[in-house]
Amino acid sequence: MSSLARPWLLDASAKPASPGTAISSATPSTSKLGLVTCDPTNDHILPFFHAPTFTWTYLVLDSSRTRAVVIDPALDYDAASGHISSASLQPLVGLIRDRGYQVTHILETHVHADHLTGARRLKTLLAQQQAAPPVIGIGAGVTKVQRQFATRYGLDDAALADSFDLLLESDATLAFGQSTCRVMHLPGHTPDHVGYMIDDCLFAGDSIFMPDVGTARADFPGGSATQLAQSLTTLLELPDDTKVFVGHDYPPPQTGRPEMTCSTVAEQRQRNIHSPHLDGFVELRTHRDAGLAAPRLLHPSLQFNLVGGRLLRNHFVIPVQADWAA
Ligand SMILES: [Fe+2]
Repeated sequence: MSSLARPWLLDASAKPASPGTAISSATPSTSKLGLVTCDPTNDHILPFFHAPTFTWTYLVLDSSRTRAVVIDPALDYDAASGHISSASLQPLVGLIRDRGYQVTHILETHVHADHLTGARRLKTLLAQQQAAPPVIGIGAGVTKVQRQFATRYGLDDAALADSFDLLLESDATLAFGQSTCRVMHLPGHTPDHVGYMIDDCLFAGDSIFMPDVGTARADFPGGSATQLAQSLTTLLELPDDTKVFVGHDYPPPQTGRPEMTCSTVAEQRQRNIHSPHLDGFVELRTHRDAGLAAPRLLHPSLQFNLVGGRLLRNHFVIPVQADWAA
């Protein structure tokens, strides 16, 4: 989809946000250890919730409970002051230190457009407390996303080079300790989007959300509702009891439920409100996306995340487009 079809990519003026995607100012501003999972026996998965951006970060232990990977860490960013901090990473870093875990990989499900990645900062912090620094991995499609946005944000080849340690092809496997992580390309939300399968758990990023929330938007450049439908079909063909861990949770206010991390494939197939198996998903997704506001931290997030969480300059570029007819 071209940027002209989504004018907020140039003009950050607000549109009304659809339910389930709004950023609530009433949300607590501190991170907390998430204790809600679909299966309390998942003691090898430790979720952390970044409340300002509704983001789940997962610390996943290997079967020996000594090695680990971290999926989708987030930083704190105050757009008004331009202040970036890693305060929300501290509980995660402290837990890893106190229990003596060795984190081998920090894995991104995609280039996030709604929060600044904590991958690079986390790598630096962990390098100070473990024998070897972790490596940062992301789907190989990230180069496509980089090319799409490089000119807009003034990022040249030198800036983009070596932004990530590992570019992961679909079906690639990563060994960490005594466990293995398999990469699943799940494009649609973004072209580089991947999920990570560890044992019977899929870390699905922003492909599918909790069943009462639905699915992720597919209107970013390079995104595709048709591709998302295909990815969801692949995902929902996994065994019924596969646990699907989401990258965000936006509890519908009327449910009163807390933020949750996962459901099963069977639950998703039966109850997901966007019913990706049904005819009409592409139309439903496209219609919903047309009414969504730009993510609050879109431009800072992309500029920071496209280069693997590095601050190349002391400012972010915010493209503007005047509309004098309004
Ligand atoms: Fe996303």
